[in-house]
Amino acid sequence: MDGITGLREKYLRYIAAAGDMDTLENLRLAALGKKGEISLKMRALGQMSAAERQVAGPALNGLKSEIDAALKARRAALEDAILEQRLQAEWLDVTLPARPRPSGTIHPVSQVMDELTAIFADMGFSVAEGPQIESDWHNFDALNIAPEHPARQEHDTFFMHRAVDDNRPPHVLRTHTSPVQIRAMQSQGAPIRVIAPGRVYRMDMDQTHTPMFHQVEGLAIDRDITMAQLKWTLEEFCRAFFEVDEVELRFRASHFPFTEPSAEVDIRCSWEGGQLKIGEGTDWLEILGSGMVHPHVLRAGGIDPDRWQGFAFGMGIDRIAMLKYGIPDLRAFFESDLRWLRHYGFASLDQPSLAAGLSR
Ligand code: DAH
Repeated sequence: MDGITGLREKYLRYIAAAGDMDTLENLRLAALGKKGEISLKMRALGQMSAAERQVAGPALNGLKSEIDAALKARRAALEDAILEQRLQAEWLDVTLPARPRPSGTIHPVSQVMDELTAIFADMGFSVAEGPQIESDWHNFDALNIAPEHPARQEHDTFFMHRAVDDNRPPHVLRTHTSPVQIRAMQSQGAPIRVIAPGRVYRMDMDQTHTPMFHQVEGLAIDRDITMAQLKWTLEEFCRAFFEVDEVELRFRASHFPFTEPSAEVDIRCSWEGGQLKIGEGTDWLEILGSGMVHPHVLRAGGIDPDRWQGFAFGMGIDRIAMLKYGIPDLRAFFESDLRWLRHYGFASLDQPSLAAGLSR
């Protein structure tokens, strides 16, 4: 039929040359739209004789499908090209460092608690816990501190309120971690090997005292525990914690109601040039109280003192943190000053280990 070959060549050529989607769409409308050249020709089929229609009909239908297919193929090719262009233009360097995000630091007290927990865990001690609001019995009586004992006053205790007409002794904010000894005995029975790090409270506030501070309690109970094992355990701890090969501890006879005999322990150090060195020099620094657990205390914890004995110690965590990391003022520990926290804090990935903190 007239013009079919011409139309075919024209559109196939234009379609192949179309460089963008708009041009392609205009070509589709020009050929196959309502008023498109091919559509008009198809409409004209109605006016033809049956014989003419039999020739022209299939030819036009063939042309229509051919143009349709060419349009689709060209559209796909253009889409591919557009995608290819985007892939070239927009690329992502996954090796770039991430954007910095604000991050906090680990408080020196938390860091030191993790460190000492790791060291004692290595020696077979597990961690025990007790409440910070403690019964007067656990905090005093069970530890062989009688109601009239001066230690009750010495401790400058914070007392909780009881309801009106409730005459039971008020609970206290625990003044030391020693009540956890009793709780561990009651819940585990003998033998025992635990440490109990945590917060304690006393009404006290000056350059070296804050109303809240931290202690770690240690307790080992077995058939034949002696002071010698206490001494070895503490020396081993100090060696690991202060990262020195040689430490010298001095056991000074002392008195605590919950131990007999009792000893306060000092560590040899030097302050030469204003800098503290552990393990050398001529000065001594007190770091803890300790002793053999008093039979009354064992009994209060439900343990038979004729069959079991053990040692206990209580150490100031803030104190040893200040010593290890050269932090001069205790009060700054609890002031939440961001500059202080950034300076003395530890990165969250700084693993507590025997050499932790060196990379700071
Ligand atoms: N609880 C004592 C205090 O707060 C420290 C202490 C001394 C704990 C001797 C002990 C110990 O376990 O045996 O000062």
